[in-house]
Amino acid sequence: MQNNVLILDFGSQYTQLIARRVRELNIYCIIKPYNNPPEDLSSFQAVILSGSPHSVRGEDAPHPDLSQIKGKKPLLGVCYGAQYLAQHFGGEVGQSNTREYGRANLSLVKEGEAFLNGVSVNSQVWMSHSDTIKQLPTGAVRIASTHDVENAGYRIEGEDTYAIQFHPEVYHSTDGKKILENFLVNIAGIAQTWTPDAFVDTTVANLKTKLGDDRVILGLSGGVDSTVAATLLHKAIGENLHCIFVNNGLLRKNEFTDVLKQYEGMGLNVKGVDASARFLKALDGESDPEGKRKIIGKVFVDVFDDESKLVENAKWLGQGTIYPDVIESVSATGGPSATIKSHHNVGGLPDYMQLKVVEPLKALFKDEVRRVGASMGLAPELLGRHPFPGPGLGIRILGDITEEKVTMLQEVDHIFINGLREAGLYDKVWQAGAMLLPVNSVGVMGDERTYEKCVALRAVESTDGMTADWVNLPYEFLQKVSNDIINKVKGVNRVVYDISSKPPATIEWE
Ligand code: XMP
Repeated sequence: MQNNVLILDFGSQYTQLIARRVRELNIYCIIKPYNNPPEDLSSFQAVILSGSPHSVRGEDAPHPDLSQIKGKKPLLGVCYGAQYLAQHFGGEVGQSNTREYGRANLSLVKEGEAFLNGVSVNSQVWMSHSDTIKQLPTGAVRIASTHDVENAGYRIEGEDTYAIQFHPEVYHSTDGKKILENFLVNIAGIAQTWTPDAFVDTTVANLKTKLGDDRVILGLSGGVDSTVAATLLHKAIGENLHCIFVNNGLLRKNEFTDVLKQYEGMGLNVKGVDASARFLKALDGESDPEGKRKIIGKVFVDVFDDESKLVENAKWLGQGTIYPDVIESVSATGGPSATIKSHHNVGGLPDYMQLKVVEPLKALFKDEVRRVGASMGLAPELLGRHPFPGPGLGIRILGDITEEKVTMLQEVDHIFINGLREAGLYDKVWQAGAMLLPVNSVGVMGDERTYEKCVALRAVESTDGMTADWVNLPYEFLQKVSNDIINKVKGVNRVVYDISSKPPATIEWE
């Protein structure tokens, strides 16, 4: 990787967004906690200091070591970063008289500043702070103000050090990406070479060297990450990649056969394993949500283990882990403690398997995984698929699971999802699905009284599944889908639409 930017994180909710914006400029970057920076900084061509929930005046304020950075490399401080540079290099930060949250407009943009090239007065920026820079640091020149914040941007003379109080990474800062581009490309002189094609070429070459003639096993889930990971590995080692696609009996209607065919069409060395009966037997009588999850996870490991044993001499386990799963995060509630989220797509394998792990997507954000997939020619339908949970319909059938209930929910889900596709709504929704509720209610069909099941439809918009809001689907659409479900799915006489946001509700009902 030729280009490389370091983002030092102080715990801001926006740090990952900075990284995504930098990557969108085709510049590679990594996020590191301010208190655990890389030892060798020589490969970094620029450094960005993130925002933070802390005040620089607080006792527990994060203090980075900038001795090898400030004045030595192009440096950009954002929000907390800007305040830190002011407070510690001869300026002053104090409580602001007016707290600025949300939209603001620039009232001053100093002319002739390469950093603000293409940014105009009145340009909208996004603020989120209660402290303000009362006095600029030594050698600083003010380059931007808003109506309420005089020192909204400054530069330190004789250095490539820049600082802005607003957040360029947030879409509401309309020229934010331009500012990042000015800083990274025009000022730091970084080449924009981090492209999906370049990633594929380097990754495949590296995988070839790393894996040689070794065999790799990979569990495909039908989702974007495992599919893109498999495609990269396949390009590198061909038939030595052994993919396993397990039917846990809780997939969507026809999903096992359709997706398996798709994988075979892509030339992958894939084995479809229909373990539906084994999963349903193990789940028999279990109605507790956590209990069901545990059973599904355990049976998956057992099935995967049995299948892996059939691949002789396998040395590696391929996984579709992506960058947000491995970023070391700074705790937002303070303290220098860094926690690392570890991620096992296959739910943790038995130690005795002793496989080494290979994770070709570990450096990518989800949107980059899709772009890499597209550059390798994967079908847009596959890359645009909604997320689907590992335990599948098992956590959408409330209460105990039977084959009859699975079939019923598969039909309902099929009508809903197909309906979204036909109405051109599928790509506008982040995730959608149906839940089979453990209640019967009274209805009337023809002259008959019915006493049948109720299903809930859920469609949400989200960016990462951490927070979500329900989608305002057109009434006409809901009306048609509801009619279709009640007319076509035997055993269902009532359809409701879930209008809860996350938080406090979750996306899945179990
Ligand atoms: P919740 O229900 O926690 O879901 O709001 C957030 C996102 O995670 C998915 N999800 C899972 N995915 N294994 C998975 O692979 C799981 O056990 C699991 N549980 C929830 C859910 O579909 C949503 O996209």
